[in-house]
Amino acid sequence: MIKFIQNLFGKEEAQVDSLGTIGVDMHSHILPGIDDGAATVEQSLELVRAMKELGYRKLIMTPHIMSDFYRNTPEIIRGQLQVLQQAVQEEGLDMELACAAEHYLDEALLQKLEDGEELLTFGDNYLLFETSFLNEPLNLREAIFRMQSQGYKPVLAHPERYTYFYGKFDDLVRLREQGVLLQPNLNSLSGYYSPGAKMVVEKLIDAGLVDFLGSDAHSLKHTANLQKVLCSKHLVKALELPLLNNQL
Ligand SMILES: [Fe+2]
Repeated sequence: MIKFIQNLFGKEEAQVDSLGTIGVDMHSHILPGIDDGAATVEQSLELVRAMKELGYRKLIMTPHIMSDFYRNTPEIIRGQLQVLQQAVQEEGLDMELACAAEHYLDEALLQKLEDGEELLTFGDNYLLFETSFLNEPLNLREAIFRMQSQGYKPVLAHPERYTYFYGKFDDLVRLREQGVLLQPNLNSLSGYYSPGAKMVVEKLIDAGLVDFLGSDAHSLKHTANLQKVLCSKHLVKALELPLLNNQL
């Protein structure tokens, strides 16, 4: 929520005191034991508690699917969702839990799209995907075309973190014009990943090119940093955009 405080000069300034306005997080690695996020149910529970304290009411958790490292399937992910839902219930924690996935753009993803294999989505058929951080994938346009032809709405995870877009902001603008929704990571607002990522996320917010905001929480280090993000001036600005999180 946004509150107004008086600054040192007696002027009113907006400040965010929780992430309750976002309400629903749609990108995290909180499900236990299937990627580089929470390793155990206990760690998952700690993360759910931390996200609750930050003001979230629902978590759509998105384990990596990457053919070289994380061969997760819808069955595996749904199985772990049930495990965590039960643990959350036993703990008496009030948090709605759901799952999707963060799909790495590789040949296996292209093949699944071609075969019409089931892909885990959230909300209105939103498909969360990521690419290599360093190299622009040669098949980016083709992948987007295939996703859209199969009826998916592609959501690019953390667009501000791909260095191949640095100095090419117009390419991000064009992607969004082609129907790719953009989901920056909240922690980029504090410079957590790099000064470059901070610069791009601020530019995206200034240009109104943000559709979702995600925590991308893997560990308590990430949720602790989210507390720092609450002081970001650009967060106030981002929360004034027509974000889709709270409709999920
Ligand atoms: Fe992620």
